[in-house]
Amino acid sequence: MTTAMNHVSQAPPNDNPARRSFLGWIAVVTGLVASALVAVPGVRFLVGQRRVKVPWVNLGPTTGFALNETRLVTFDNPLRLPWDGITSQTGVYVRQLGVVEKGDPQFLVLSVNCAHLGCPVSWFPQSELFLCPCHGGVYYADGSHASGPPPRGMFHVMWRIRSGELEIQAPHYPTLQDTLRQPT
Ligand code: FES
Repeated sequence: MTTAMNHVSQAPPNDNPARRSFLGWIAVVTGLVASALVAVPGVRFLVGQRRVKVPWVNLGPTTGFALNETRLVTFDNPLRLPWDGITSQTGVYVRQLGVVEKGDPQFLVLSVNCAHLGCPVSWFPQSELFLCPCHGGVYYADGSHASGPPPRGMFHVMWRIRSGELEIQAPHYPTLQDTLRQPT
């Protein structure tokens, strides 16, 4: 009698195979959902679907740019964050190329940021060169690399003309993997 009572009291409570199976399925489904939540943003990032719509910045009438003259145009970057402060003031170098396509003058628009580590480069019209003050990077007037540590030429900025005004895509900080030029 004592042995039978001991046997009954040692049985695990609620040892129901159907319940265990149900809990197992809950655990599997929960795991799958959690994995998907973690993986989806990473996959979207890898396939480049996280690009945000980039606003356009108006640089003024196209007639304001003299032929074959490189000019620095500064503006407040609309991609700024509240804590950016003065660093949201950025710029591009604009050159009117003297070529007309479909009735519109054509432009060369270059990011002010050096392709090495991002310092703002300066334009020297006498020598027709861009010089970077940080490590001595040098670029030709068309933005191509002349000498120094930059691994490539200057970053080109997307531009368009709307109602006679030159607009550029607000430049995010370019990298070698994510340049400012749109894929063609
Ligand atoms: S940041 Fe311009 S050469 Fe290094």
